[in-house]
Amino acid sequence: MRKDFLSVVFASIVASGFCYRAASRESQNVVVETIHHFAPNLSISLENLAVRQTGEIIVTFDNHPTIYQIEPEVNGTGTYIHTFEGYTDLHGIVEVQPDQFYVAAGNLSLVTHIDVPGSCSVFHVNMTRFPEHIEVNKVADFPDSRILNGMTLLSKEEGLVYVADSRVGVVNILNVNTGKHFVAINDTLTNQPPGASEISNCVHGVHVIQPTPYSQKYLYFSNFAQGIIGRVPIHNDGLASGRAEVVVGNLTTPEDFRLDKKGNIFLALFEPNEFIRIDAETQGITVLAGNPDSPEYKWAAAVEFGKKESDKDSLYATINGGYLEADNVGGALFRIRLGDLAVV
Ligand SMILES: *[C@@H]1O[C@H](CO)[C@@H](O)[C@H](O)[C@H]1NC(C)=O
Ligand SMILES: *[C@@H]1O[C@H](CO)[C@@H](O)[C@H](O)[C@H]1NC(C)=O
Ligand SMILES: *[C@@H]1O[C@H](CO)[C@@H](O)[C@H](O)[C@H]1NC(C)=O
Ligand SMILES: *[C@@H]1O[C@H](CO)[C@@H](O)[C@H](O)[C@H]1NC(C)=O
Ligand SMILES: *[C@@H]1O[C@H](CO)[C@@H](O)[C@H](O)[C@H]1NC(C)=O
Ligand SMILES: *[C@@H]1O[C@H](CO)[C@@H](O)[C@H](O)[C@H]1NC(C)=O
Repeated sequence: MRKDFLSVVFASIVASGFCYRAASRESQNVVVETIHHFAPNLSISLENLAVRQTGEIIVTFDNHPTIYQIEPEVNGTGTYIHTFEGYTDLHGIVEVQPDQFYVAAGNLSLVTHIDVPGSCSVFHVNMTRFPEHIEVNKVADFPDSRILNGMTLLSKEEGLVYVADSRVGVVNILNVNTGKHFVAINDTLTNQPPGASEISNCVHGVHVIQPTPYSQKYLYFSNFAQGIIGRVPIHNDGLASGRAEVVVGNLTTPEDFRLDKKGNIFLALFEPNEFIRIDAETQGITVLAGNPDSPEYKWAAAVEFGKKESDKDSLYATINGGYLEADNVGGALFRIRLGDLAVV
């Protein structure tokens, strides 16, 4: 289906109309490689990903409660890890201690976009002895939640992670050691916009950043329906120490994202089928891959930096594929080599 498994994309000025700001950066070479394409299996819809210390990528499916491991090379092989019986979809995944991953599962229909309130849980996936052995245990149920979505690490030492709920519009803190959790962030900028439909998604991806040891710590978040990247100052315990503010607005369906050390934002834009970089200083937008008029990167879902010396300045990036759409290309994982576009 895809002829060009490796293509050189000249990042260019944004002209696609999804954003009102002009891009400010000169052209730069970015190399995109196809790491794994689930096509011709068009029944796979990918959502999120995590990168192991050893370099492999774990991907979650949002139309099937399954996770796969993929080798970080062009046409890398995929290895089945686990299926979470009793759930229909998976979203966020985060590593806390080395090889200890936590995955959000729930019952959201990808056909109707209707969720089963209270059906979400987070599971611990112990990858230490994978592939010989895999240990999976439930950490917690979330009876008051609806769609557990992006997850990110708050404290490795204390075992705390943030878990966004993209339908309720809040961010929870979960202690993965005790299973205790509570709503930590509930702000108009994480919430649904006024008049949102019953199937709207708001706060989606989450990411903690503290540029230097003594500077203010922030939780950055994307809000899919509000079209923003926002941030909220946080205390060490993860609670907000002030109101949230908009960092970048006028984005079309921002999904998951990561920040580099300088605060440049690397973001998946779902409906425009694009992976973009937003410059920390100028807010100039550079398209790294994708195009609203082509399904090649249909429904961009999530990004994560590599963890090895050889790929720490690369982004691994998932697309949903366009599940159930006429131009479905199948879920896929790409590697976007950023060169000097990322400060890692
Ligand atoms: C597609 O992937 C699903 C999930 O892994 C599997 O059950 C199914 O058999 C695959 N179908 C084809 C045609 O390979
Ligand atoms: C990867 O797969 C594509 C499509 O099947 C093929 O054309 C290409 O030669 C493969 N590349 C490598 C490096 O294996
Ligand atoms: C979620 O879906 C699964 C699979 O269809 C089903 O077994 C389970 O009972 C559902 N859970 C809830 C809370 O509805
Ligand atoms: C993960 O599995 C390994 C090997 O099976 C075990 O030694 C270790 O205690 C487990 N870690 C956790 C956090 O459960
Ligand atoms: C979030 O805050 C609003 C406004 O104070 C409140 O009505 C709502 O119940 C809160 N939601 C949760 C899940 O705590
Ligand atoms: C979005 O763009 C409009 C039109 O240029 C501008 O007035 C508005 O302030 C922008 N909103 C945000 C949040 O950036």
